[in-house]
Amino acid sequence: MKVDVLLGLQWGDEGKGKVVDVLTPRYDAVARFQGGPNAGHTLEFEGKKYVLRSIPSGIFQHGQVNIIGNGVVLDPVLFREEAEALEKSGIALKDILKISKKVHLIMPTHRLLDAANEKAKGGAKIGTTGKGIGPTYTDKISRNGLRLGDIFHNFDEKYANARDKHLATLEAMGEKPDFAEMEHRWLDAIEYLKGYDIVDSEYLINGLLKDGKSILCEGAQGTLLDVDFGSYPFVTSSNTICAGACSGLGVAPNKIGEVYGIFKAYCTRVGSGPFPTELFDETGKKIRDLGHEYGAVTGRERRCGWIDLVALRYSIMLNGVTQLIMMKSDVLDDFDEIKACVAYKINGKETREFPFSIEEDNIEPVYVSLPGWKTDMTRFKSEEEFPEQFSNYISFLEKELETPITIISIGPDREQTIERKR
Ligand code: GDP
Ligand code: IMO
Ligand code: MG
Repeated sequence: MKVDVLLGLQWGDEGKGKVVDVLTPRYDAVARFQGGPNAGHTLEFEGKKYVLRSIPSGIFQHGQVNIIGNGVVLDPVLFREEAEALEKSGIALKDILKISKKVHLIMPTHRLLDAANEKAKGGAKIGTTGKGIGPTYTDKISRNGLRLGDIFHNFDEKYANARDKHLATLEAMGEKPDFAEMEHRWLDAIEYLKGYDIVDSEYLINGLLKDGKSILCEGAQGTLLDVDFGSYPFVTSSNTICAGACSGLGVAPNKIGEVYGIFKAYCTRVGSGPFPTELFDETGKKIRDLGHEYGAVTGRERRCGWIDLVALRYSIMLNGVTQLIMMKSDVLDDFDEIKACVAYKINGKETREFPFSIEEDNIEPVYVSLPGWKTDMTRFKSEEEFPEQFSNYISFLEKELETPITIISIGPDREQTIERKR
């Protein structure tokens, strides 16, 4: 009986998809527990690249059940696009994917509301992915949502009621959308969804556990985008932290085993909001170019900066991380100097704790500078090959973070993954 959780410790895009794929053969099931198509999880193997949005990253290995849990919000149209592309490439998705009856549906009007809310915020906009995430979770919390299981019970009426409420709100905001085409495609996609196994996923998951099976939970977004603990209001609308796996799957807290926390050897953020270690200079640009830091979903430029250990310590604490996974160290292979933020100076006072607000103008990062390893590590196969400076960098991070780094990713491919001996 075992539920392990893998989640991002920064502002998303840490490389969760790649590592879930690598770890999947050790589990019987893989489950997404929150978020929706705002996620873009990239996997690369055998010269091919896939980007998954709503479907778990365990579908490319063999024999695992993949589950979309109740905490997820699902857009039928985007799901259909994603699923049909995968089926075309030979994945028998209908055989391996189970979707919770309790996932909340993203309606076309949720996407329109997302856009209208952003427009109304003007300069203070969040820079959302535009996928309707906020409005869908808003409806869930305010008890106006539409769930996948509803498609079997008086659905037309429930849908029309929800849609008309949204249209009234949009009209009050000065928006008069013509969305007949969007609606048509959405209703078609609802029919398509009926071809999948729509289940009571809390029973499925707890039944697996009872049978001695193991489950890997795949987080989306990152801890600093968590609605309670992230850089509010510049966050997403779900609990991205480990606790989200309990509520988003119906797994009791005492069933959680390992918590894998993923971070990049530097830091990125996409969308608006504060980012204390952001670099606006040539170094930031170099990280963006070498790391191909452009959004997997929106193609937007990701903002880049040095690793922030204040934020990482906070994320490790909130999630109860037991093992760290460091991604994209290869991006720093050619740097003379690598910096790490070990504390913040706020109004002249140093702190190692993540404060209530991290607005740029009152925070000054305190950096430690480390020598770069200046070695192309992308073909390395084991930790014995690590250059001394790189080993020192890892030891430095482990000491600062008080948690072991057990896996290091040195390139986007499945094979470019080094597991350390413990
Ligand atoms: P996720 O949302 O956490 O799954 O991450 P994304 O897929 O949005 O972004 C991670 C990006 O980095 C993807 O383009 C991956 O292919 C790529 N990637 C993952 N691990 C590594 C790595 O170790 N090195 C390099 N250079 N790229 C990586
Ligand atoms: P993965 O799972 C990075 C960001 C958006 C925006 C904020 C709110 O690939 O790591 P939303 O559409 O959720 O209302 O947008 O959150 N955001 C992400 N940033 N990776 C993600 O997912 C993200 N999902 C949302 O850019 O700033
Ligand atoms: Mg991503």
